[in-house]
Amino acid sequence: MSHFNQMANTWDTPEKIKLSASYAEKIKTYLPKQESLKILEFGCGTGLLGSNFIYEKNQLTGIDTSKGMLEIFEQKFSNQKNVHSILLNLEEQDINENNFDLIISAMAFHHLIDPAKMILKLKKLLSPNGIIAIIDLDQEDGSFHPDPKNMGVHHFGFSEEVTNSWAIKGNFPKHTREIINIMNKDKNNYPVFLAIFSN
Ligand SMILES: C[S@@+](CC[C@H](N)C(=O)[O-])C[C@H]1O[C@@H](n2cnc3c(N)ncnc32)[C@H](O)[C@@H]1O
Repeated sequence: MSHFNQMANTWDTPEKIKLSASYAEKIKTYLPKQESLKILEFGCGTGLLGSNFIYEKNQLTGIDTSKGMLEIFEQKFSNQKNVHSILLNLEEQDINENNFDLIISAMAFHHLIDPAKMILKLKKLLSPNGIIAIIDLDQEDGSFHPDPKNMGVHHFGFSEEVTNSWAIKGNFPKHTREIINIMNKDKNNYPVFLAIFSN
């Protein structure tokens, strides 16, 4: 997505770094105590969320369609042997890795053509006790992105009804959703949810 290639160099800001760290803390409350986690960050961008999970023996794989975003990702984690990225569109292609203990994604699902299908695809990449943690906008009126069409936006957020339907379709025994932030933009409030899907 050319939009993200252009944004890559200026993507990381102190505000986004702080916010992503707070999102990671929320996700960690759902994690089992485990010495090492194999983690996939879908739509990783520059790895803002995933960077908070690079500790102990964890391994992080980032997937993104934007070469520019992944260049920053690679620069940031060049010293980390346990981190790597894959440039691909997961709606159209597959990856060779699987058995992930944790799959995380922030603000990427509204760029997907078929998010429900992606949940099914991510489920196949999970370890038996794995967890999927999706962060995205609650349903909004289309005003969040200044130019949705050119920014590759396919959904104006997702209501609780929609994320519940993903859990049902994916046959996940455990599913929760909570609002973890309210983003304020141009005097409008946009709630952000964390949805957890697990076996
Ligand atoms: C709004 S950015 C969020 C980036 C990062 N997760 C963050 O929180 O800073 C959305 C990201 O999803 C990626 N993306 C969109 N569709 C994708 C797809 N089908 N497969 C992989 N990555 C995708 C974009 O290239 C972009 O980097």
